[in-house]
Amino acid sequence: MTLLRVAFVGKGGVGKSAVAGTFARTLARQGNPVLALDSDPMPGLAFSLGIERTDVGIPDDAVRERAKGEEGPRFRLREGLSAVEAVESYSVEGPDGVRFLQFAKLRGQLSATIKSQMAFRQILEHLPEDRWALVGDLPGGMRQPFFGWGDYAHTIFVVVEPTVKSMRAGRRLARLALTEKPPASIVVVANKVREDGDAARIEAATGLPVVASVPWDEALADAEQAGLAPIDAAPESPSVKAVAALVDQVMATAG
Ligand SMILES: Nc1ncnc2c1ncn2[C@@H]1O[C@H](COP(=O)(O)OP(=O)(O)OP(=O)(O)O)[C@@H](O)[C@H]1O
Ligand SMILES: [Mg+2]
Repeated sequence: MTLLRVAFVGKGGVGKSAVAGTFARTLARQGNPVLALDSDPMPGLAFSLGIERTDVGIPDDAVRERAKGEEGPRFRLREGLSAVEAVESYSVEGPDGVRFLQFAKLRGQLSATIKSQMAFRQILEHLPEDRWALVGDLPGGMRQPFFGWGDYAHTIFVVVEPTVKSMRAGRRLARLALTEKPPASIVVVANKVREDGDAARIEAATGLPVVASVPWDEALADAEQAGLAPIDAAPESPSVKAVAALVDQVMATAG
């Protein structure tokens, strides 16, 4: 059985982590084995999942460097370490049984985490489709999406706010549909929606269908201040309910 694989992309600060965290928790509550993936070198997704330990990450020794004369990628998973074992060893378990995987967080230079980053990519490339549903949170901007960091996803959710800048970023990200490895589906989640016409404006500006509208919600600021995941701090809030409805909708179409 193939499980759901989604990734959230969009301009910085649009709400990717907030939406992805609630999406992952809701999916897990419906009985799915969920692996939440954070490829942002700055911490983000852990907070919206309700995971306190943000220091965990894939260690450098998960990969070994290509030997002289050997073909293929420069770093590959250490001998005898399968992708599933790597997830089991290096992810942490959070509320509702969600597993959380990230590469080592930035302390000094980004280049210092290169092995950990390559391990992350290798794990995702080799993960069987029937083990975990994947919910990924990519850092803001175009770089990771266009360099294949979201290639595991069948559906890319472009998170867009009803602002000119965010919609412009959404239009650029829509070009993922034209790349060598286009996702099966690329759609918009409108976030911080304040007016009735926002979804239509976003559709017109991005050329992508809006599959969910998440309202502007003060409860999210309160959750953040309290250091809690939105789904724990405000389970009945309009934004959490809208994301839960998106999960239902996606699962219904996934059959
Ligand atoms: N629907 C919403 N209503 C009100 N505030 C929101 C909503 N969604 C997210 N926010 C707030 O917007 C801010 C950015 O959210 P979040 O960190 O999830 O964005 P992001 O896209 O992951 O950002 P980054 O690009 O920095 O990773 C947070 O303060 C969050 O609480
Ligand atoms: Mg984020």
